Amino acid sequence: MSDKKAILHLPGQEPVELPILSGAAGNDVIDIRSLGKTGYFTYDPGFLATASCESAITFIDGDKGILEHRGYPIDVLAEKSDYLEVCYLLLNGQLPSSEEFTKFKHIVLHHTMLHEQLVAFYRGFRRDSHPMAIMCGVVGALSAFYHDSLDISNESCREIAAFRLISKMPTLAAMSYKYSMGQPFVYPDNTLSYAGNFLKMMFSIPCEEYVVNPVLESAMDKILILHADHEQNASTSTVRLAGSSGANPFACIAAGIASLWGPAHGGANEACLEMLEEIGSVDRIPEFIAKAKDKSDPFRLMGFGHRVYKNHDPRATVMRKTCHEVLDELKIDDPLLDVAMELERIALEDPYFIEKKLYPNVDFYSGIVLRAMGIPRTMFTVIFAVSRTIGWISHWKEMLDQPGQKIGRPRQLYTGEVDLDYPDK
Ligand code: SDX
Repeated sequence: MSDKKAILHLPGQEPVELPILSGAAGNDVIDIRSLGKTGYFTYDPGFLATASCESAITFIDGDKGILEHRGYPIDVLAEKSDYLEVCYLLLNGQLPSSEEFTKFKHIVLHHTMLHEQLVAFYRGFRRDSHPMAIMCGVVGALSAFYHDSLDISNESCREIAAFRLISKMPTLAAMSYKYSMGQPFVYPDNTLSYAGNFLKMMFSIPCEEYVVNPVLESAMDKILILHADHEQNASTSTVRLAGSSGANPFACIAAGIASLWGPAHGGANEACLEMLEEIGSVDRIPEFIAKAKDKSDPFRLMGFGHRVYKNHDPRATVMRKTCHEVLDELKIDDPLLDVAMELERIALEDPYFIEKKLYPNVDFYSGIVLRAMGIPRTMFTVIFAVSRTIGWISHWKEMLDQPGQKIGRPRQLYTGEVDLDYPDK
């Protein structure tokens, strides 16, 4: 921590000294916790310049396009690690030894089944329900199933909740897909990898043998790694705020799923593919670029821009490579990829996008890869949620482990009516 200070001069008050805190990397922060005594609040809707917590899980340098999980660059993890090892890293703070990883994987693979009563829960949804709507419901419903671990002040209860969520999210997600397809649910196969098991639960049918395609298995594992965590994004902040009241962890993750669903956040991959389909051909790109630049038009280029990245999203760079690998392997010539590549080229040369530093983000290519893998658009954000569960749980755990953790309770600038007289009747 630094001994630097910010001096705040407020009308009619003595100058206020506010400590400046330095982290291991990234922006210093002005500690305003003592500001309340001045009678002032700070005001930052959207939290553009507000650090909500101290964290050691993920670091992003938006100007340099850097993303590191516990100090390891995302492109290195995508190349050399696998999703379950990244789960261990995010949750525990360091890479596992071989013995630690074997034990971790054994626990994860032996919590993949659901209570059979939960299967009935799916029947309550219309068969054409959006899988994200189902996920909000069934993940929240898990909070009604585990009364053996409700004391989240107990570390072992927090640990088993984390394992259950990491293990069961692929099962729940695949079931939400199967339900929407009218196909029978597929039980987990613990002989397979995490990604392979998910693909089998998604695509196997009783009347045929299902063999996991190693290229798709590797692509899915890479997609899971790329979406695992991203510091204090909207859904992670939602989980932290929900968890700060001591709420049930399954209910907190359901809140994170709800936030992720929005098209400005995790729903952008589905919205991006819808946009590419609407554009339809390369010659219509200028029309949509113009719409994106038109202030009177709410249209935005989905998959472009980011609150933090003002350079390339390093995940998009890896996703772009994966996209080509999968399409080449499957020998798919997807016209939407041609539209995407041309849209990226044009946008990156357009002064509007250059000036506003709008680059393709992780959602720009993920939709094309997932579509090439035969995954329906409505499942894109579900897969994002499966991956991000480890990030949400790691931040939830970090928050609860921090001494002096307080309930999150922002203040406001009140602009409503004051002291009205109630009308005589
Ligand atoms: C994710 O936070 C995370 O880390 C999220 C995430 C994660 O891993 O958790 O990275 C995942 O959510 C990625 C982002 C996915 N969303 C989209 O692709 C949707 C399209 N992008 C935008 O809606 C937007 O860029 C946001 C929401 C991502 C960021 O918005 P900000 O930071 O609030 O920026 P802004 O809306 O204030 O935009 C700044 C300017 C504006 O112009 P001016 O008002 O200054 O003239 O850039 C323009 C915007 O109009 N702009 C865009 C644009 N994004 C911003 N113009 C056209 N197309 C776009 N996509």
